[in-house]
Amino acid sequence: METVLKYDWKFIKQDIPGASAKDFDDTGWRTVRVPHDYAIEGPFDPENDKQSTEVVADGVLKPIDMVGRTGGLPIADPAWYRRKFSVSDSAKHVFLEFDGVMSNSTVYVNGIRCGGRPYGYSSFSVDITDAVRIGAENTLAVFVKPKPSSSRWYTGAGIYRDVRLVEKENSYFPYQPVWVRTEVKNGSACVDVSADLHLSGSGHTLHCTILDREGNPVAEETQKCCGNRVYSAFKLKNYHFWNIHNSYLYTLKLELISDGKVCDTYETRFGIRTISFDSCDGFRLNGEKVKLQGVCMHHDLGALGSAFNRAAAERQIQKLVDIGVNAYRCSHNPPHPEILDLCDEYGLVVMDEAFDEWKTHKVPNGYGDLFDEWAERDLTDLIHRDRNHPCVIMWSIGNEIMEQEEKDGWKVARFLHKICKREDPDRPTTAGFNMPLDAFKNGLAQEVDLVGLNYKPHLYEQFHREYPQCILFGSETGSSVSTRGHYTLPAAVEHPVQPKESLMESSYDLASPNWAYPIEKEFFVQDRLDYVIGQFVWTGFDYLGEPTPYRNSWPARSSYFGIYDLAGMEKDRVYSFKAKWTDQKVIHILPHWNWNPGDLVDIHVYSSCDSAELFLNGKSLGIQTKDSEDEIRSNRLIWNQIPFEAGELKVVAVGHPELYDVVKTAGAPSKILVEPERKKISADGDDLTYIRCTVADQNGTPCPDSNMMLRFSVEGPGEYIASDNGSESSTRVFSEPFCDTLHGKCMVIIRSLKGKQGIVKLKVTSQELGSFSAEVESC
Ligand code: GAL
Repeated sequence: METVLKYDWKFIKQDIPGASAKDFDDTGWRTVRVPHDYAIEGPFDPENDKQSTEVVADGVLKPIDMVGRTGGLPIADPAWYRRKFSVSDSAKHVFLEFDGVMSNSTVYVNGIRCGGRPYGYSSFSVDITDAVRIGAENTLAVFVKPKPSSSRWYTGAGIYRDVRLVEKENSYFPYQPVWVRTEVKNGSACVDVSADLHLSGSGHTLHCTILDREGNPVAEETQKCCGNRVYSAFKLKNYHFWNIHNSYLYTLKLELISDGKVCDTYETRFGIRTISFDSCDGFRLNGEKVKLQGVCMHHDLGALGSAFNRAAAERQIQKLVDIGVNAYRCSHNPPHPEILDLCDEYGLVVMDEAFDEWKTHKVPNGYGDLFDEWAERDLTDLIHRDRNHPCVIMWSIGNEIMEQEEKDGWKVARFLHKICKREDPDRPTTAGFNMPLDAFKNGLAQEVDLVGLNYKPHLYEQFHREYPQCILFGSETGSSVSTRGHYTLPAAVEHPVQPKESLMESSYDLASPNWAYPIEKEFFVQDRLDYVIGQFVWTGFDYLGEPTPYRNSWPARSSYFGIYDLAGMEKDRVYSFKAKWTDQKVIHILPHWNWNPGDLVDIHVYSSCDSAELFLNGKSLGIQTKDSEDEIRSNRLIWNQIPFEAGELKVVAVGHPELYDVVKTAGAPSKILVEPERKKISADGDDLTYIRCTVADQNGTPCPDSNMMLRFSVEGPGEYIASDNGSESSTRVFSEPFCDTLHGKCMVIIRSLKGKQGIVKLKVTSQELGSFSAEVESC
């Protein structure tokens, strides 16, 4: 039996001696639900994450006082969680499963220390059988003690992923017991199952069933259990491939039978797919060539912090699929297991990453402190947890590890590579190298199967020539910086990007830090190099922390790198990827059309077509055509220095009059458009809808420069959770029921109430314009 421990946790952000005791008085503590991230509750403060450090790889050679690097949020405070629970009389073994606790957790049951985990991204199980009282009330207490200066980005803090209470009989399936391997041979799919068992007594049988997507059994087998591991092999003559954006998932159902009774069951999904990598031919999935159109993603969910929410993660993935993303890099740590469920379902391949740091530190209290004691266990557990997911196509043993520069660095790479091969010989290993010359010189790059290059498009050809056996890809690319809706004229390449007083970066996406470049460069190079298996753009969404280029310019506290902003609103370059990576007909014009008379405005257009004509108030400003010899113009159509004149700017694809885009000069703000992304949500207490608020003039034209305070209230069976305008430098706590618009927009997040159905109404009020609303059905 499995119970998710979601509600009724008591919480205090303090280290209180004795709080592990069974009868400790926690009546004054707050009641919270889990997943929970207490750091996102703020307040924002530069003192929260001041780090005096150099960042040699980024050209910061002397220590500077960095602020906002981990979001300017209190991620290093200690805290306690407590909760009562009971177990049924029939339970013989009892476990607690944690998908991840941030970080340095210790788990107590009835005052007895039962386990815990230092690395906040690892999933783990704790055997509480000896501490638990059957048939009586039990107390679970979890202490978290994150260290300061232990990360380069926002981690969140607390029990930020799910917790389950698992009760077993005498014989049972232990934690993560099953490994499913598939292979396609002679026209059939071979499915090999190995299952770990904990058996007490004898005479057990194991019944395995493979169910198709509709839940119909397609193969089954019963066998006697001898020993604590059982193997089964199936051959499916008719089978469906798991594929990009077209996933077909089977379920393996295991039943452990003792004395004719099922004493435990376990289910896991899997997919049938083949992968192959070749240094000349590239990557093939099910025999078909696929270029990785990937993005890197950190684990936070913007205004929700790191507390996992499936609806919020699914929304991110849907928005990525919408622009043609087919690959997801969990940078730089094990993801929530449901991220992989979603990637399985949406058909995205995954670079599953273990570490950002090995032994040599990047930050004073980073993973280097744990490496010797924990690396093997953390990596092994990650692979055991994730290896049944068809989406996972490579194990990344590290990102930009400092050992690249060390003569003996290859030893660590070999150690980790071998663990991967021992636990899963079916997938290649990789790492993201930002110093590939060193990584090759010191032999690290030769230890992994796939060589990921971070920001080195100019080196693919050289490495392909010098190491022809190497399989290459861009493990991080791009890293241009921009603020949604902000435009600086004239539009010019800025390298390296310089901090601005406004703490905003231009959405022409031509500015990047010294190691990075506008994405056009990567497109330009990779379009010509068939053997490079693709790329992972840094990043799909903005994330909390790392406000480059504002390393010490409070209140900058979140990244500028995203294709979508922190609230999940589209920056202009969404259309660049959509045009490049999908088959859709795309045309998108930037910037907005609210300037001062006489301003000279540079017009950029992202489009799937090669030529387009621009019209200002009906008058042609000429045709522009992509230039395949020019990095930027091979991806954009550009009209420079157009004198602003109020009215309408329209771009039309040549030969396709139906494909056009228009920006209009907006008049004075007159109303708020309140638009839910989803109009129906499930009344399960977890589902969310994001509601976009846009300041518009009386004709409904968005006002691109309107920054106006909005207040929110909710009626009906839903609750206001947070709002965000995507600004990288706001210190308003996201859960406050008000938000100013940034460039005329902000996003509100509403959650359903468990078991309560009906119409949820969001009321949005501005002092200047009055009240507006939208309704969503919770059912
Ligand atoms: C890379 C690093 C990422 C992120 C990125 C920003 O060097 O691996 O974690 O910091 O730069 O461009």
